[in-house]
Amino acid sequence: MSQWQPDSWRNFPILQQPTYEDKAKLASVETELNRFPPLVFAEETRELYRQLANVSQGKGFLLQGGDCAESFAEFNAPKIRDTFRVILQMAIVLTFAGRCPVTKVARMAGQYAKPRSSDLETIDGVSLPSYRGDIVNSFEFTEAARMPDPQRMIDAYHRSSATLNLLRAFAQGGLADLHQVNRWNMTFVENNPLKDRYQDMANRIQDTLSFMDVIGINAGNTASLHETSLFTSHEALLLNYEQALTRVDTLTDKWYDCSAHMIWIGERTRQLDHAHIEFFRGIHNPVGVKVGPTMQEDELIKLIDALNPENDPGRLTLITRMGADNLEQNLPRLLRRVKAEGRNVVWSSDPMHGNTKKASSGYKTRNFDDILSEIRQFFAAHKAEGTHAGGIHLEMTGQHVTECTGGAYQISESDLAECYETQCDPRLNADQVLEMAFLVADHLRSEV
Ligand code: PEP
Ligand code: CO
Repeated sequence: MSQWQPDSWRNFPILQQPTYEDKAKLASVETELNRFPPLVFAEETRELYRQLANVSQGKGFLLQGGDCAESFAEFNAPKIRDTFRVILQMAIVLTFAGRCPVTKVARMAGQYAKPRSSDLETIDGVSLPSYRGDIVNSFEFTEAARMPDPQRMIDAYHRSSATLNLLRAFAQGGLADLHQVNRWNMTFVENNPLKDRYQDMANRIQDTLSFMDVIGINAGNTASLHETSLFTSHEALLLNYEQALTRVDTLTDKWYDCSAHMIWIGERTRQLDHAHIEFFRGIHNPVGVKVGPTMQEDELIKLIDALNPENDPGRLTLITRMGADNLEQNLPRLLRRVKAEGRNVVWSSDPMHGNTKKASSGYKTRNFDDILSEIRQFFAAHKAEGTHAGGIHLEMTGQHVTECTGGAYQISESDLAECYETQCDPRLNADQVLEMAFLVADHLRSEV
């Protein structure tokens, strides 16, 4: 195999990229970004790696979630805080009710680039470049807005940096204190049909904390009671940006993509002989790959070998996104083969991307029951094959949006218009996430 360099991906075919007209500006933006400080520190990334190694050995669960696409327009503190809260809330349910340590990874602070089904979008006979995420162009349907602009990479970097700054403050500055979390969770779920179940769990956590306090374990002497760790991740689609943030770690002399702790390759750009696999094989972050229903067993083994030739536990997370109707036919054969070949991976379920539909009103939506069905089948398949259902990957938000139908509140197709805010895929709202957390927790408990 040829020598890897941060830019060696440029010698390979690549899909889903913008065409930048102004090449000189692109080059100067890349140089500028390359001088900027890294967004994450390699040692933090290695901590995530270690946690994922445990998950791959059945000793933990990966919770990954956030927006389908972050947006420049919706870049504000309440939005970041609410997503942080809902991730934490879900993690507490999984940890306490599921009896399982949870590694939290946000789809935040860099989730700005989107693959699209077509290069062009046509409205009323006018064709313009598709919206590829705010790091590339703007959502508005005008020629100027849709023109890819390299400057947006700098804007995305600064927004990612400010988002990370706030997430770190929330994680370590008191917002994640377990006593607090227990309290704010209650107001958060006030009108939720699962309130009683939640209340019961919150009471039990409170009792546990009181007991621990009596025997001398408290927030003053035990960090994990008042702070948490939340890692960041995004789809590393725009390799110009990723390359510019790729640095040699001075402690280990190894290359890390310092745009996030974990990055993944999407379903549409994981071709073995293409640029994304080339880029990913040389960096030392934990990485993910989306695995859809068309994946063949041989191809998957080759993919694993390309990305994790040393078979290191924690390095590779396979994020399956089969669709509720396709999972049964396609996941077990992959689980069997990977197990038979002794490959160490984390298996995580993305129950969102295989279950996208168009409502009769034209809205892109997902039905809560389809999402739950995929998760149930995911757990069942792992149980049957004797493998560990290691994680879940969700598109979700802390806002009370109406983008996915169903759930305990029974959002119907005609309710979608009420609060449909996503620029991309439909997300679970805070109530739907909580409902799902209890379901996943029940599965986790039955695993042990
Ligand atoms: C995504 O995670 O937003 C996405 C585009 O997923 P996939 O690559 O699985 O389609
Ligand atoms: Co999406």
